[in-house]
Amino acid sequence: MEQTEQTFLQQRSLRIAHIEPSVTLAVSTKAKMMQKEGIRVVDLSAGETDFPPPTGAIKAVQAVLKGKHLLARYTPTLGIPELRETIAKQYSKKTKETKAISQNNIAVSAGAKQALYNSIAVLCNPNDEVLIPAPIWITYAEQVKLCDGKPVFCKTEEESFAVKADLLRERISSKTKAIILNSPCNPTGAIIPQSELKRIADVALEHKLWLISDEVYEPFVYESYEGGFSSVAGLGQEVFEKSIIISAASKMFSMTGWRLGYAVAPEPLIKAMDALQGHTTSNACSLAQYAVLGALQDARTKKYVQTMRNEFKKRREVMIKRLNQMDLSCQKPGGAFFAFADITRTHLGSVVLCKELLQNAHVACVPGKAFGSDKHIRLSYATSMDEIKKGMDQIEKWLNGGVKGERSPRH
Ligand SMILES: Cc1ncc(COP(=O)(O)O)c(C=O)c1O
Repeated sequence: MEQTEQTFLQQRSLRIAHIEPSVTLAVSTKAKMMQKEGIRVVDLSAGETDFPPPTGAIKAVQAVLKGKHLLARYTPTLGIPELRETIAKQYSKKTKETKAISQNNIAVSAGAKQALYNSIAVLCNPNDEVLIPAPIWITYAEQVKLCDGKPVFCKTEEESFAVKADLLRERISSKTKAIILNSPCNPTGAIIPQSELKRIADVALEHKLWLISDEVYEPFVYESYEGGFSSVAGLGQEVFEKSIIISAASKMFSMTGWRLGYAVAPEPLIKAMDALQGHTTSNACSLAQYAVLGALQDARTKKYVQTMRNEFKKRREVMIKRLNQMDLSCQKPGGAFFAFADITRTHLGSVVLCKELLQNAHVACVPGKAFGSDKHIRLSYATSMDEIKKGMDQIEKWLNGGVKGERSPRH
């Protein structure tokens, strides 16, 4: 075994040698292991909600399983036409002064991650630079590296964490190919106001750059910013022709495990993604496609998303208040479902603090280092109010003297 490992390490591709494993998944896995051992862990690490998928999704899958469709067959690589058409219609409603978005502008894939990877892969040549605001979800940088490109981080100001056009402009070089945006942002919850988004789009057009806009947290916006959340799709035809919008059912329909995401982009890019995905994974899971189609077509889904958003808004209030009371200072995030707390008062790095919190307070959080800031930790409020309160109590106790969490009542 050791011999095999040695040989592999010598012979592995440079592509994989520089890739960091996902810290978020590592924390979740460790928390789950502790739970299996009988330790009651409050898991505030996961980037997924505690809601079931919408009724429309469940009903659609039930219909498929009753034999309404040929469920065991490949679908077209880019997704079933009805789903692509429905997504296109939704995006057409968001656009302004843009030609209607058609299904030829939609590529359905296995989660937002694959849609992002496809986007970067069809754009990046070796050493192309991609601007990425920081702190940020680190997968963007790893995917750019996997495509032989170079991530260039643009550190945002802590007062809002929202990236500004001037900051991006400063980092543009002759090698810059694209800008990745994520609003609302994981991990900071920052939202790019509409006016700033327009300025960013102008910079992109001026320098002939592509805009990759990850909008997976779009339904989770709690504050109204200059007329609400703005999708890159609403910035007009010229911007749309240089943009790829990424979204997914994962967060908005609580369907992380079903793996269904999509890219909305100009037709030539979609055709390139078709070629790429056709030789890598082929279509996204057929059942998940019918499920998302069912959710999008069901009138009850709008209410479902609203209920989730309202619930998260309440949970956000509680978590942010408690964190600030503990002097783990934290601004109120405008969107997504994460608090990004400043841990300066602990005098610990974020990795050490998260280890301490997991082992001794039995609360799982994600080190900010995984997102590019070692003086923060990320806590998810997409879990129940009781769990949030319990987690906050245990962190507070630990900060005040290191009291251990409870053993699980099961053991
Ligand atoms: C900003 C952002 N984009 C994309 C994803 C991945 O979404 P999916 O599960 O659909 O691949 C995540 C997951 O945490 C995320 O935080």
